[in-house]
Amino acid sequence: MKIAPSILSADFSCLRREIRSISRADYIHIDVMDGHFVPNITMGPVIFQNLKRYTTIPFDVHLMISHPLQYAKAFMDAGADILTFHYETEDDIQELIRIIHDRGVKVGVSIKPNTDVAVLQPYIKNLDLILVMSVEPGFGGQSFLLSALDKIRYLKKIKEEENLHFIIEVDGGINHETAKSVALAGCDIIVAGTYIFREKNRNRIIKELKGL
Ligand code: DX5
Ligand code: ZN
Repeated sequence: MKIAPSILSADFSCLRREIRSISRADYIHIDVMDGHFVPNITMGPVIFQNLKRYTTIPFDVHLMISHPLQYAKAFMDAGADILTFHYETEDDIQELIRIIHDRGVKVGVSIKPNTDVAVLQPYIKNLDLILVMSVEPGFGGQSFLLSALDKIRYLKKIKEEENLHFIIEVDGGINHETAKSVALAGCDIIVAGTYIFREKNRNRIIKELKGL
C-alpha cells in the first residue's frame, strides 16, 4: 500500500520542515476546502506552490470545493500531480476530466460517505484514481465510517473484472486498525492526517502503514 500523509494535520507555520519529516511518503495529500462545499476553509494554490521546490514527492490534491472547473488550472499550475474533485460538485464532470487530462495531470473523483459508488460507472474508464471518503469531508480527526469498506471491495472487483487501471484511495479516520481493514478490502493508497502528524517520528508510522 502507498501512503499519502494529509498536511491538513501538519503545522502550517513550518510546512517546509513538516514536509521533510514525511520523506518516506509516496504522495503528499493536500486538502483544499472552500467553506462552501464543506464547512471549513483551508488553502489555495499559493500555500503549496513553493513547496514543490523542496520535495520530489508527488502532490495529491483533493479539491473539496463547489467549482473545481474554475480553479483546476491554478492547482495544476501550482504543481498538482493528481487532481481529485468531488462527484457531488455542480460542475461538468466529463469536462473536468478532459481539461485535467489535457494537461497531462492524473485525474481523480471522490465520493462522500452517502454517495453510492455505482454513480461513478459512466466515468470509471477515464479515471486514474477514485477517492473513497471514509469520513464526511471537512475536518481531520474524525472516526472511520465502515461503509467505505464495501465501496473499496466493489471498486476492486470491477477493476479486476473490467481490467481497468484506476487507483483506489481512501481518506479519513485512518489508524493502525482501520488501515488493516482497508488494505484487506483492496485499497491502493491510504490518506492519513492525524495518525501520522501527531507522532514525532512520522516516517516510522509511514513505514508501519506500508507494511500492512
Ligand atoms: C477530510 C480530509 C482528510 C483529512 C484526513 O476532509 O479530506 O484528508 O485530513 O484526516 P484524518 O486522517 O485525521 O482523518
Ligand atoms: Zn483529503
